[in-house]
Amino acid sequence: MCGFAAAPLGKVRIGLIGVGARGSGAVSRLAKFQDVEVVALCDLFEERTKGGQATLMRNGRKPAQLFFGSENAWKKLVELDLDLIYICTPWQLHTPMAVLAMANGKHAAVEVPAATTLEECWQLVETSEKTGRHCMMLENCCYDFFELLTLNMVRQGVFGQLTHAEGAYIHDLAAGLQDRSEPWRLQHNIDRNGNLYPTHGLGPIAQCLDINRGNRFDYLTSISSQEAAFTAQARRDNKPTLATLPKYRGDMNTSVIKCANGQTVMVQHDISTPRPYSRIHLLQGSDGCAMKWPEPERIALASVDGGHRWLTEAEMLDIQKKYAHPLDKTIGEIAKKVGGHGGMDVIMDYRLIYCLKLGLPLDQDVYDAAAWSAVTPLSAASLKHKGDSRDFPDFTRNRWKSNAPLAIVDVEPAKLPLIEIKKDGSKQLAV
Ligand SMILES: NC(=O)c1ccc[n+]([C@@H]2O[C@H](COP(=O)([O-])OP(=O)(O)OC[C@H]3O[C@@H](n4cnc5c(N)ncnc54)[C@H](O)[C@@H]3O)[C@@H](O)[C@H]2O)c1
Repeated sequence: MCGFAAAPLGKVRIGLIGVGARGSGAVSRLAKFQDVEVVALCDLFEERTKGGQATLMRNGRKPAQLFFGSENAWKKLVELDLDLIYICTPWQLHTPMAVLAMANGKHAAVEVPAATTLEECWQLVETSEKTGRHCMMLENCCYDFFELLTLNMVRQGVFGQLTHAEGAYIHDLAAGLQDRSEPWRLQHNIDRNGNLYPTHGLGPIAQCLDINRGNRFDYLTSISSQEAAFTAQARRDNKPTLATLPKYRGDMNTSVIKCANGQTVMVQHDISTPRPYSRIHLLQGSDGCAMKWPEPERIALASVDGGHRWLTEAEMLDIQKKYAHPLDKTIGEIAKKVGGHGGMDVIMDYRLIYCLKLGLPLDQDVYDAAAWSAVTPLSAASLKHKGDSRDFPDFTRNRWKSNAPLAIVDVEPAKLPLIEIKKDGSKQLAV
């Protein structure tokens, strides 16, 4: 399935499951693609599907068929005549939904992480291979602007040979998670240890390192700190239930991966300590270094003062001009205008729909989904044994040696126009 291209589609007919915080944003983005039809929406709650419907109507789209009211209503949705099932539900439902979608002949686009266990990773791989359907994990951070820039620079050899990378999901959700009406995410954090959400930090790095395409994650070792910040937050918020959580897993998980081609990757997970957001995104090579967080974004090059200082703002602008990723140049501005994590969500959806429409390989395949998600179970297993290393399964079954690296891709905007609704209610094409 690496490099696999399905038959081109005229329109991409989508059924979306999970119209919560993330899913409702997805509906509003997908409603802007002229060649997308959101045919069906499903959620446990009727009012959420109606919210999605209202978004479609506001964007001048046909109403969708609505499914709600039962935990299994989505099983009817995946039987409809659709091309793609877009899954924005809690983590434990990602693999079962993606697997049944593919078994019903649909491509699956699934939120992060795609799987929670190694068995689920294999289920995704085997089902995608057996059915010949795409399974793309919706790793939007691969399409953020600095990540795209640095991927392009890596491909052009600006950093030399990569030796080390760092990624993370450091996002203080301690207060927010405690306030949610459906605490599924908090429950995962209570029940499970390890790096529960590795793919935002890891995905863009894995693309730079050609993971599954000439390189692979070989083994991992992982340790977690004790818990303190979550309890402190609960105490500050006067939330006694959380302050007495005896099993909360610990604030910071640090995992280190060794790659087959020699590189090391550190990936961290911390959703409870008071600290500004960071995915780190550090790339170290023999000729230079890039680092996104803490901001501002920074680059150091051996060719500029021996790499002993970060480039100045003016030098960074020159870099941007010289190495901006083609996707940034063609659809970056419109993506920022439509919104969604500063534009990266739109670029991700654009590439997904574009490739399905034109019958091109997707940027992320099922092996990426499996290898990036596998960090969660492997880290849990490693830290149980004082950081003993755990081997990554080779989900590609040795094909990583011959799979081609992800190209520096682009789009022709005329082939996939976006629609904007003007103030008078008429439609116009934005791209
Ligand atoms: N890529 C990103 O930047 C990003 C950002 C936020 C969330 N996410 C991911 O998106 C997913 C959803 O997160 P969220 O914050 O929207 O959560 P949420 O709780 O707001 O939404 C989940 C929705 O799924 C629905 N649901 C639950 N069980 C269902 C079932 N059996 N059938 C149909 N619908 C069901 C819920 O009713 C809810 O509306 C998660 O996997 C999360 O990790 C990704």
